[in-house]
Amino acid sequence: LASIEVDVSALEPGMSLTVKWRGKPVFIRNRTEQEVEEAKAVALAELKDPVARNANVDAAADATDLARSAGEGKENWIVMIGSCTHLGCVPLGQAGDFGGWFCPCHGSHYDTAGRIRKGPAPTNLPVPTFAFTTDTVITIG
Ligand code: FES
Repeated sequence: LASIEVDVSALEPGMSLTVKWRGKPVFIRNRTEQEVEEAKAVALAELKDPVARNANVDAAADATDLARSAGEGKENWIVMIGSCTHLGCVPLGQAGDFGGWFCPCHGSHYDTAGRIRKGPAPTNLPVPTFAFTTDTVITIG
């Protein structure tokens, strides 16, 4: 299936964009330094789902903030499929008990790295295959 290119040059820290890819919303967020620091401060033992769920890293990788992000030097960027891993509702951004995303359908709370922290969702929001093809363009797929 087709890849899409997304220009993220207008996204200042703290801004997000939702695009559609393969019929699903994809959240792209330029996280603030504070959001990154919050996610980094979480011990892996506290995570309900300790696996990165990032198509761009090893399938067994731990769900560290770095492994959930766009990687070294681009850690502020997070790209995730915006479909709650419980039953597929679209979570709301900057909401919930962990300042990340909140799914209003049955109350799943995700942190600023999109990791499930509370509620019925079993796994972290998945990170699709993507890459920065220039400094300001992300190709998804
Ligand atoms: Fe998100 Fe149920 S679909 S909590």
